[in-house]
Amino acid sequence: QRKYRADYQPPAYLIDTVDLDFEIRSDRTQVRATYAVRRNPDANDTSQWRLDGRDMQFLSAAIDGRALDTHEYALSDNALVIHNPPEIFTFVVENTIGPEQNLSLEGFYRSGDILCSQCESNGFSRITYFPDRPDVMARYTTRISADAHKFPVLLANGNCVDSGTLDNGRHYAVFEDPFAKPCYLFAMVVGDLGMIRDSYTTASGRKVDLRLYTEHGNEDQCHHAMASLKQAMAWDEDTYGLEYDLDSYVTVAVGSFNMGAMENKGLNVFNTACIFARADTATDSDFALVRDVVAHEYFHNYTGNRVTCRDWFQLSLKEGLTVYREHQFAIDQGSPGVTRIRQVRTMREIQFPEDGGPRAHPVRPESYVEMNNFYTITVYEKGGEVIRMIAQMAGRDAFIIAVRHYLDKHDGQAVTIEDFVVAMEESTGLDLAQFRHWYAQAGTPRVRVATDFEDGRLQLTLSQHTPATPDQNDKPLFDIPVEIALFDAEGAPVREAEVLRLNSAEQSWTFDGFDAEPTVSALRGFTAPVRLEYEQSDEALARLMAHDSDPVCRWDAAQALYLKTLVADVSARREGNAPVAAPELLFEAIETLLDNPPADRELLAEMLTLPSEAMLGEQFDAVDIFAIDAARRELKEAIATRFAKRFQALADTHAASSAYIFDVAEAGRRRVFAVALDYLATIEAPGLAARAAAVYDGADNMTDRMAALDALRDLNAPERQRVLDDFAQTWADYPLVMDKWLRLQATTRRDDSVERVRELLADARFDFTNPNRIRALLGGFVRGNRVGFHRADGAGYALIADEILRLDSLNPQLAAALAGMLTNWARHVPAQADGMRAALARIAEAELSDNTREIVAAGLEQSN
Ligand code: ARG
Ligand code: ZN
Repeated sequence: QRKYRADYQPPAYLIDTVDLDFEIRSDRTQVRATYAVRRNPDANDTSQWRLDGRDMQFLSAAIDGRALDTHEYALSDNALVIHNPPEIFTFVVENTIGPEQNLSLEGFYRSGDILCSQCESNGFSRITYFPDRPDVMARYTTRISADAHKFPVLLANGNCVDSGTLDNGRHYAVFEDPFAKPCYLFAMVVGDLGMIRDSYTTASGRKVDLRLYTEHGNEDQCHHAMASLKQAMAWDEDTYGLEYDLDSYVTVAVGSFNMGAMENKGLNVFNTACIFARADTATDSDFALVRDVVAHEYFHNYTGNRVTCRDWFQLSLKEGLTVYREHQFAIDQGSPGVTRIRQVRTMREIQFPEDGGPRAHPVRPESYVEMNNFYTITVYEKGGEVIRMIAQMAGRDAFIIAVRHYLDKHDGQAVTIEDFVVAMEESTGLDLAQFRHWYAQAGTPRVRVATDFEDGRLQLTLSQHTPATPDQNDKPLFDIPVEIALFDAEGAPVREAEVLRLNSAEQSWTFDGFDAEPTVSALRGFTAPVRLEYEQSDEALARLMAHDSDPVCRWDAAQALYLKTLVADVSARREGNAPVAAPELLFEAIETLLDNPPADRELLAEMLTLPSEAMLGEQFDAVDIFAIDAARRELKEAIATRFAKRFQALADTHAASSAYIFDVAEAGRRRVFAVALDYLATIEAPGLAARAAAVYDGADNMTDRMAALDALRDLNAPERQRVLDDFAQTWADYPLVMDKWLRLQATTRRDDSVERVRELLADARFDFTNPNRIRALLGGFVRGNRVGFHRADGAGYALIADEILRLDSLNPQLAAALAGMLTNWARHVPAQADGMRAALARIAEAELSDNTREIVAAGLEQSN
C-alpha cells in the first residue's frame, strides 16, 4: 500500500536503549531484544504500539518481565501490535530468523561464508520486532554468540566491551555503541575473515583503529580502499572541520550486496566491487569508484548518522548532501574538470531520462509503495546538484559554516529537508523561498538562451519552461543560477564569468562595449540541473571548443558540435533520406584540438569521445536505436579515417612506459591511449588487432588490458577469442574480474548476442544469486548493447522479461531495478516501444513483489 509524506505521525513510543542478543546456530538464529520504552509526549494516539516484523518466527513478548497474553497483542505478517502499553516499561521480544535461507540480501543474510546485515531502509524488521522508522533513535548494545570455528570474527556497531569462549566450541562478543541511532544504521557481521589494519590520528589527537575485513585471500586488494579512507578522513577535517567520533572504524567487504555500500555507524558494509582495487585486477575507473564510495560512506558519519532523516521521504537530506560532499572530494583528488564532466554526464544521460519518464519524482518524493525503489539517481545526484546550487549561491566558505550550523543545531536528531533549508537560510542569510521548488517539483527545467547584438551591445535573454511530469502538471518558476562568460573571436575572454539568477519566466541582461559580437559560454560548470536550449553556430562552438577556460563548457562545445551532425544524420535516416556527412568545420575543430591539446589528458580524451547513444537518444522525442547506432558509427569511422595517422601517433606517445600508478597524469595518459585504440579499431586499421593483443599480453594493469579488450571486442580477428579465453583462465578465481569478462561478451556486437547472453546465464561462471554477476551480464546487455537488446524480433525484451520474472521471488530489489530498464518504452519509435511495452505487460501478469509491481505499474500507466 502507498505511503504519503503528508501522513507523517510522530512515533507513539520512544525507545532509549536497545539490547540485542543473537545466538547464531546452524539452523536458525535466536534473537532476544530488550527495549527501554516510554510514551512519546508529542504523540497523538498512544493506545497502540506498532512494531514492524517480517519473515521471522515470533516466540514471545513480555512487558516488565511479565509474558503477554494473546489478547494483549495482535500478530500479523508484518507487525506486532501491543494494545494499551503502560507509560514507561521494559519490553522483551524473542524471535528466530534464518539468514542461510534469506536470498533478498536484506535483514540478516548470508554472503558466501559470511553472515551480514543490511537494514536501510527497512531491513531491521527482518531481524526483530521494532518500530522500523528512522525517527526512533536508541543506544544499542549487541551480544553475538556463534560457533568459534566457523565464525571466528564477530562484529557489531561500536566498541567491543566483552568477549570470551563458551561451551561446545562457541564464543561471544558484546558491543556498545555510545551514539543513539536509528535502526537502519544497525549492523552485525560474523565470519571467517581476513583483515588489514591501519590507524588514523584525528586533528585533536584521537587515535582511530581502522580495520578492513574481507574473505581470506583478498587482503592485498584492499589497500587502495584503506588509503582512500584516510584521505577522506583528512579531507573532512581540512574542509569541514569534522573529526571522526569513535575509536574504531570497521569496514567489511562482502561479495553479495544489492548496492554499493552502507554507512552503518562504525561498521560499514561494502560490496567488494567498491573495495577491491589492485593494479592488475581493477581499472582506473574502479580505483576512482572505490575512492569515492569509501569517502561517501565515511562522510555519512556526520551527514546521515549524527544528523539523520525523520522519515524516508527525507532521504535526500542525507544522500544529496553526502553526494555533494563526495563530489567535492572527488574534484579535489582527481582532474577537477573531467571529474565534473563525469558528474554532468551522469545527470544528462541517466537523471534527465528518469526525470522525463514515467518514474519522474521530486528530490523529496510525495509518496511511495516500496521505499527501496526510491534510492534513485534523482534523490542522490539531483539532490547533490541542488545542494551544489545552494553552496554556489552562498559561496564556499559561507556554505561550510552553514553546514556546521545545521550539524550543531540538529546533532543527534532525525530531521527534515525543510529543517536543513531553514538552517541554510539562518546561517547564510539567503532567501530560499522560491528555491525550495527544486525539492518539491519533478522534471528538468529547460532554459532557452537568445542573444541580440547591436551597436556594440549584447542583449542576453534567458527564459525557462518545465514540461509536465506524472502527477504534476503546472510547474512553478524555478530559481536557476546560470554562470556565463564572454569570449571574443580569437577566444580571449572579454567578460569575466558571472552568475545570472533566472527566477522569472524570462529575463534579459545587457553587456556593453564590444567591437564585434562576443561568443557566449553558458551554464559554465553546469551551475544548475537544467537542459540548455541554445542554438550556437558551428563557428562559435569551435571557438569555445578551442578556448573556453571552463573545462565543462569546452567539452560541451565539442559535444554540441558532434551532436549537430549526429542529430541531422539520424533525422535524415529516419525520413529515408541520404545520410548527412559531417561538415568540414568539425574536422578542423578536431585538428585544432589535436594540435593544441589541453594540458589535462583526460580532458583531451573526453573531448575526442562522441556523445553516447543515451545522450543522442535524449535529443529525440522518439528514439530510433538503429538510426542512432548507424549515425554514430559512421561519424566515428569518418573521424578515424581522417585522423588515422594522428590516432596511431597518439597511441604511440600514450602507450605505457612505466609501472602502473593511479594518479591524474597517468590515468589521463591511459584514457587517451584507449580512445586512440578505439578509433583505430573502428576502421580495423592494419595491424590493430595484433597491436591490441600485444598490449593485452604485456600490460601490467587492468586499465590497459581492458583498453585492448575493448578494441578487440567487435573484431573478427583470431586474436579476439585467444585473449578472451586467456582472460577467463587467468581470472577464474576473481569473480569481480570475471564480471568484466561477462560484460564484454554481453556488449559485443553480433547478431546472436541474445543467444550468447542466454548461454552465459547457464555458464558455471555465472551465478544468479549474485547481484554483481547479474548487473554485469544483464545490466551490461541492456545498457551497453542497445542494438542487441532492441533486436527487431523482440528476443532481447523477452530475455529480460524472463529473467525479471525468475529473479523477482529471490531478490525483488534487483528485479525491480531491471524492470526499470523497460519503463521508458514510450520514448522509443513504435516498433521498439510496442515490444518493450508487451514485455512489461507480460511481467505484470505474474504475481509480483511490491518492488517490481510498483515499477511495472508506473511503466504501464503512460500512454504514447
Ligand atoms: N545509504 C547507502 C548509501 O548511499 C545506500 C543504501 C541503499 N539502500 C537501499 N535499500 N537501496 O551509501
Ligand atoms: Zn549515501
